[in-house]
Amino acid sequence: MQTTTAQGGNNLDPWYHHYADRAAGLKASEVRALFAVASRPEVVSLAGGMPYVAALPQELVIDAMDRVMRQKGATALQYGSGQGVPLLREQILDVMALEGIKANADDVVVTTGSQHALELVSKLFLNPGDVVISEGPSYVTAMVIFKSYQAEVDHVPMDENGLIPAALIEHIAALKAAGRTIKFLYTIPSFHNPAGVTLSWARRLEILEICRSNNILVLEDNPYGLLYFDKPAPDAIRSLERDGVVYLGTFSKTLAPGFRVGWALAPHAIREKLVLANEAAVLSPSSFTQMVISEYLSTADWKAQVNTFRGVYHERKNAMLGALDEYLPDLSWTNPTGGFYVWVTLPERLDSKAMLPRAVKELVAYTPGTAFYADGDGRQNMRLAFCYPTPDNIRLGIRRLATVIRGELDLLDTFAGTGPLGAVPDRPGTQNQRFGGPPANIS
Ligand SMILES: Cc1ncc(COP(=O)(O)O)c(C=O)c1O
Repeated sequence: MQTTTAQGGNNLDPWYHHYADRAAGLKASEVRALFAVASRPEVVSLAGGMPYVAALPQELVIDAMDRVMRQKGATALQYGSGQGVPLLREQILDVMALEGIKANADDVVVTTGSQHALELVSKLFLNPGDVVISEGPSYVTAMVIFKSYQAEVDHVPMDENGLIPAALIEHIAALKAAGRTIKFLYTIPSFHNPAGVTLSWARRLEILEICRSNNILVLEDNPYGLLYFDKPAPDAIRSLERDGVVYLGTFSKTLAPGFRVGWALAPHAIREKLVLANEAAVLSPSSFTQMVISEYLSTADWKAQVNTFRGVYHERKNAMLGALDEYLPDLSWTNPTGGFYVWVTLPERLDSKAMLPRAVKELVAYTPGTAFYADGDGRQNMRLAFCYPTPDNIRLGIRRLATVIRGELDLLDTFAGTGPLGAVPDRPGTQNQRFGGPPANIS
């Protein structure tokens, strides 16, 4: 039982009533406790989006660190610029050029991971009650930030080619008619987290045009763009437009997340404010990790390393889709051409969130679709991450998942008094259809 304290808090948190309103958005997800169990070694976790850093030879990092410390140790251990190390900002231009972006190093701001860039952009733009338009589903921890600034997320549906332009137009019109203030479109165009789909080139042009004509800033988040399997994703939206796009990149997936180095590329005026916000938040991003990455980019064959990562993730994606075909042929799922994630649509009567405890008991974990919607949608979906487990473990995990789903359907059939126990098929005629079968979107 909770009791109230003299300060007006409760016995769980005596400061409960002292928090700012914006702290109300900072809640542990309901499935967090389960994920603690899911991190046990006997559980195959298809839940987390952890890069497979074991594919990065540690020697490469050790050598870079060694040289930085011997040659520039005093600078590396010192506070640095609030905008980031100049040489690294130049090198970031080479990374972005691979996705068609031409820019000036002066417009790059290095941040503590792209997560921190998301936080800074939100801090600059969001007032309580503002609206952020995003894909539905969307990256969970971006939505946590938007909500912490008391903004609302409006989800626009996707199909297998990404965000649907006609739906975007409808949503903008409806929001405007309701007198709402739209601050930006938050989008992950390439190898989407969690949906695994990629926005086509034609749609990139269309969506940019829609945002331009409605005076809406585009916040393009692109952590996975270089991790394609067979062919590159279309060039970044930022390659088409300089003034209306804030672009976010990171070394977390192409190198390692432990460095916590990402960046924002912003129109000049926004860039100035971002630097001030960065300084206010962290004084300067870590000189040490920036200089180690800079040294690594100067001396190692980093493009070959990105290729190695691509190979690893491609093999794992194939293992996951192969296992889904074999063990769960009546479900539908997206077919990512890069990145880390597959988005699965379950038979209508299943609830991925309710099913998770049973899955963890069967030693497999996934992320329920509800985590990726601000409005509680997504019960019929789950995100499966293929980035971290080995191909054998992925197959084992999907086999276990099939047992869980079969058990859940049996249970439902038993209580509904229908039919025999045992069969997975629930929706005949949707075999192997990608991306949800009917309906054609995942909203
Ligand atoms: C879509 C998206 N944006 C941003 C991030 C944050 O990445 P980082 O802060 O490690 O650069 C992630 C991490 O998984 C992500 O998936």
